[in-house]
Amino acid sequence: MSLLTRRRLLRRAALSATAAGAARTGLAGATAAGIATSTVALGGCDSPPERTTDPEPDRGLRFPDGFAWGAATSAYQIEGAAKEDGRGESVWDTFSHTPGRIRNGDTGDVAADHYHRYAQDLDLMRELGLRSYRFSISWPRIQADGAGRPNQRGLDFYRRLLDGLHERGIAPMATLFHWDLPQALQDAGGWENRDTAERFAEYADVVFRALGDRVPVWLTVNEPKTVVQNGYIWGHHAPGFQDEEAAYLVAHHLQLAHGLAVRALRASGVTGRIGPALNLHPCYPADDSAESATATRLYDGYENRLYLDSIFKGAYPQDVLDDLGPDSRMVRGVRDGDLKIISSPVDLLAVQYYTPIYVTADGGTVRKWPTSEAEWQQIYPEGMYDILTRVTRDYGRVPITITENGLPCPDVPGADGNVDDTGRVTFLRDHFAAAHRAIGDGVPLESYHVWSLLDNFEWAEGYEQRWGLVYVDYASQRRVLKRSAHWYRDVIRRNGL
Ligand code: FCB
Repeated sequence: MSLLTRRRLLRRAALSATAAGAARTGLAGATAAGIATSTVALGGCDSPPERTTDPEPDRGLRFPDGFAWGAATSAYQIEGAAKEDGRGESVWDTFSHTPGRIRNGDTGDVAADHYHRYAQDLDLMRELGLRSYRFSISWPRIQADGAGRPNQRGLDFYRRLLDGLHERGIAPMATLFHWDLPQALQDAGGWENRDTAERFAEYADVVFRALGDRVPVWLTVNEPKTVVQNGYIWGHHAPGFQDEEAAYLVAHHLQLAHGLAVRALRASGVTGRIGPALNLHPCYPADDSAESATATRLYDGYENRLYLDSIFKGAYPQDVLDDLGPDSRMVRGVRDGDLKIISSPVDLLAVQYYTPIYVTADGGTVRKWPTSEAEWQQIYPEGMYDILTRVTRDYGRVPITITENGLPCPDVPGADGNVDDTGRVTFLRDHFAAAHRAIGDGVPLESYHVWSLLDNFEWAEGYEQRWGLVYVDYASQRRVLKRSAHWYRDVIRRNGL
């Protein structure tokens, strides 16, 4: 096991010993909560009063014509209807039903009941004026056991959704895999098994052929890094393992799955565009020392280059390979020709940005900025600018879409029924402004999806964290547009800030 990841594991262990219930976290959070070297306050949701003027003044920041403003969701987080119309079980059904895994014992069985309420949700999207909607397709709805003949009722649901989007003039962006692996495939080894990547390509082919006439943009695998870290190193996401050796083999197979899906699209004759959805973290040295700079470089390798170099340069970063070691399961698992598949040309890159990471001389991390309710998140809009410009500088002018960016807030309807999430407005405004500046400096950014359209099942956090533009009262499934949703509608209308 590499030095860097061993340190992370130790810190993670320290965190889980203190945190009641597993926290859904990124590296920054793992170390931040574990070693608590920083004194920054929890923030984000309480905007300073001078920043909450209503209505927002027009700042004259206009985005390019045709810029597509959107919102994002994923299947397991919103759909519910876990046992309906032939849907099979996914690893998240298993995981969420395992006592002690999810805060308050929550599950995605009902979630925001979107499977039944999709028409109402489509109307909400129209009310917001969304131009683009990013959602995911549930693999176990299409193939209950992850292989074989597709389930027509599952495909029909997504066709109804797609038709509804087209009727409302909203462009669909479909993610093929947002973590809900069919349990049957997990039982056969999951992403540790190379064969799962082949099964994924077959599933992708089924979906391309059935829905390809309706989907202009496909995303392959959502945040492979989160599966690797949260699912296989820290174990607080499905499938819940703590096995670093397995984790990086999983990283390879997820990327192989991505490349095979890109090839499957080209082979299917379907005309849509396709790309990966990567959560990228700008990494900065925590201080001026040479040691911190060195540690930051390797950290960046694990956080960003491990997924970018392979797809855009056809090679895994050498420093990460060296750190993993020649005998690691991952390095031994890479076969001739794999990197060629992984680097099959894509049409766009989907970037998900939430937080920066500050790396110390010993390879740990510290917080520099206020965090949100999600303890792994530091609020730093400048990081959006940095990561976008860096990707364009290092990997060329591939079109970019932001497929996730957002903030959890303790939203509660007031006496008047309104949800006054001014902190989210401030957060989004500052991140939009950073994106605008990146476009001005040459980043080919074409769309922006706020995470999330609806409050939803936030993985290990259950329903406690609310990330939506739209409030969901889970008891009644009533939806309420939050203040941020009204504000976002104005942003979309004027195509800027
Ligand atoms: C991302 C996930 C998404 C949601 C947000 C808050 O990492 O892709 O499903 O959990 O974080």
